[in-house]
Amino acid sequence: MAQAALLHGSSDSIINTADLARLLLDTNNPLPQRFIIPESERPNLSDNIYRDSTTLPTIDLSNFDDSSERLQLAPLLAQACTQWGFFQVVNHGIPVELLCKAKEVGFSLFSLPTEVKERCAFGITKGYEGRFPYVEKGAPWLEAFTFEALPNMGVEEVAGRLWHEGNQEFCDSIREITNLLADLARKITVLLAESLGLESNTFAQHFTEPKGRLRFNHYPPCPQPALTFGANAHTDPNMLTILYQDEVGGLQIRGRDDKWVGVKPCKEALVINIGDSFQAWINSRYLSVEHRVLVNPTRARLSFGLFLGPPEDVVIQAPRELVDDEHPQQYKPFTWAEYLEWRKKPECRGVGRTAFKRFAGIDNP
Ligand code: OGA
Ligand code: NI
Repeated sequence: MAQAALLHGSSDSIINTADLARLLLDTNNPLPQRFIIPESERPNLSDNIYRDSTTLPTIDLSNFDDSSERLQLAPLLAQACTQWGFFQVVNHGIPVELLCKAKEVGFSLFSLPTEVKERCAFGITKGYEGRFPYVEKGAPWLEAFTFEALPNMGVEEVAGRLWHEGNQEFCDSIREITNLLADLARKITVLLAESLGLESNTFAQHFTEPKGRLRFNHYPPCPQPALTFGANAHTDPNMLTILYQDEVGGLQIRGRDDKWVGVKPCKEALVINIGDSFQAWINSRYLSVEHRVLVNPTRARLSFGLFLGPPEDVVIQAPRELVDDEHPQQYKPFTWAEYLEWRKKPECRGVGRTAFKRFAGIDNP
């Protein structure tokens, strides 16, 4: 394919982002239009934004199993969730070596040739994505591998396509890290319930089997990092996200004053945020906060995480304790399955972070 077509391509010739990154770094060609964001939304990279970052409120889980010690975390967590909607956990029970190993597994996936990775391009939010042809403007500067929930995860299918003879070690690693993250996610639902004054098991009872996805994000270096994002500003629709980010940095969250704040990487910590469906479940007592990812001019960045989704057939409805005159009910009861069905409608394209409000929001006077 001619280079001009690769760079400016029509939808059938959209180049894979990792290939494009290499091409631009080699040729000094400008970033294609589809990645360029409007001037008003561009990040200000002038003050070394990668280093200018904040340590999130830290929740130490060493004493999780001791219920009276654990209760002391409740006010800290409530404070973090009210102030940021994000926090980080340490002493979470997942050894740092395992997190590093998972990071290496991620890098090894992305270092495979494009045509091999694209054997796993099964569609949106499953398998490999590296082109995003359905995004016309503000395409994300990333490639990603997504695995479905345990126990199956589609991991054997992915391994069979990447390596003809399969790869047991790879499958085991993916399952191991997912299991550990899912255990942690369940614990976090306990802490969140307690921080809201609810019975410990209010949410955790629905997570005896893990729901959700494991996703690896790879953000290649980008020669014009002020013009695009690795991930545009968004909120996560799922319940909870538990994220590991490598040391490069670039994750930013929107503070209550609307300013973007960088999240300082910490190799022992996992970053946790509340998603839209959990916000609905807890009657907006904590908010699902917007975040975005900056790209780096010279360094590739890797993150991975568990995106815990609500159980499909449980009715999501604010517990009575969270609804009163001061906090009128914000959402009608719904199931995640209904929500997913609704999202398929053509009129829901582009609803983004307003999706839950449109789907189930109650207009309170
Ligand atoms: C996401 C996300 C942040 C990151 O995948 O939803 O927000 O740092 N990722 O990769
Ligand atoms: Ni996100």
